Amino acid sequence: MSGPEERTQIRVIRGGPMMVPGPVDIELPDGSHVQSDRFMVAVCACGRSRNYPLCDTSHRRRRRE
Ligand code: FES
Repeated sequence: MSGPEERTQIRVIRGGPMMVPGPVDIELPDGSHVQSDRFMVAVCACGRSRNYPLCDTSHRRRRRE
């Protein structure tokens, strides 16, 4: 059994992305893959990124009522 130090640590930003240690390969629902070689990858959790599934900080903009 692996200890917590051996597990991938993902940090959830409230109202923002999930911070995942890179490099990563993300599989989308259509079966396509997006890769990032960054040290830390911000994965969009709000669904508003124009660069989905990667966060482009669109979560910071206020939604129009
Ligand atoms: S979490 Fe940042 S754009 Fe979606």
